[in-house]
Amino acid sequence: MPIIVADCLSKVYPVAIKQPGLRGTLSHFFKRQNRLVNAVKDVSFEIQPGEVVGFLGPNGAGKTTTLKMLTGLIHPSSGRVRVADNIPFQRNRAFLEKITLVMGQKQQLLWDLPAMDSLRINAAVYGISDREFKRRIGELTEMLSLEEKLTQPVRKLSLGERMKAELLAALLHQPQVLFLDEPTLGLDVNAQVSVREFLKSYNERFDATILLTSHYMADITALCDRVLLIHQGQLIYDGALDGLLDHFAPYRQVKLELKQTMPEAELAPYGEIESISGREVCFIIHREDLTRAVAKLLAELPVCDLTITDPPIEEIIGRVFKAGIVE
Ligand SMILES: Nc1ncnc2c1ncn2[C@@H]1O[C@H](COP(=O)(O)OP(=O)(O)OP(=O)(O)O)[C@@H](O)[C@H]1O
Ligand SMILES: [Mg+2]
Repeated sequence: MPIIVADCLSKVYPVAIKQPGLRGTLSHFFKRQNRLVNAVKDVSFEIQPGEVVGFLGPNGAGKTTTLKMLTGLIHPSSGRVRVADNIPFQRNRAFLEKITLVMGQKQQLLWDLPAMDSLRINAAVYGISDREFKRRIGELTEMLSLEEKLTQPVRKLSLGERMKAELLAALLHQPQVLFLDEPTLGLDVNAQVSVREFLKSYNERFDATILLTSHYMADITALCDRVLLIHQGQLIYDGALDGLLDHFAPYRQVKLELKQTMPEAELAPYGEIESISGREVCFIIHREDLTRAVAKLLAELPVCDLTITDPPIEEIIGRVFKAGIVE
């Protein structure tokens, strides 16, 4: 049984059109005109308990809007959502106890107080006993290596420590489903890695379901086997991260080291040349032609070394979004 179901989910936002200048402001005041923005269009997917799914898309693609519908912060314009057997928009207590939403650019901890004070408030809100509170704090601070940081005012923490404290606060009630919107936004590489590792161990230890967005591909490759790709509000891919390569980039990079340099004209017949630098040549070759092309290269050229690699995943995704391929 899936724990998250989105069925033809859509969100249309009315956006005011205002003519420039004072006249525009006045006429806007008296006669509002709206333009409709289709932020999310007919998005359907299912997520099973315990899955970690990456939600990818360029700026403005509709990721945050989808997460807001899944957590019940906004009502879908059409379509159906179910999360942990609840209709999110009803915001039942039972639902809120099962989920959490972390937005990298928003914070819930109070700035001037130690995180511990905010955590105690959260514990009271969720009716967590004192004993259980201590146990959970102990477990999570250890997983996050946050020990003495919780008693310092939040404003004195580094960005990475603050994000970890935010995660701790968001997880205190032991939700089953985590919605994470850019949880590593703005963090330095070390902090990104430790947040990532924490999420991985949290998922393993508690079998939590995680749907996360990130602009850092490394987050996705480290955590997610499956990705959803959204572009202009539409889901354009739902499947394995590995499958993404075959789906959108059915070619490989073939790098050769030659015994001696060769003119480009003599190399060109073997495939699309990506780069030549001295005795090193890089070809781009379609997957279907790969075996034949490699055999020909080895038979006919003075090759010392040959490596076949996938193009970098960032590059593929970047290209998909730029081209806006919609099936
Ligand atoms: N409250 C709103 N009112 C009107 N339009 C909105 C509102 N919120 C979002 N939009 C529009 O809906 C579209 C999707 O926005 P959304 O925030 O979901 O994108 P996103 O994928 O999260 O982008 P990013 O990667 O930049 O965070 C955008 O065109 C955005 O301008
Ligand atoms: Mg967003």
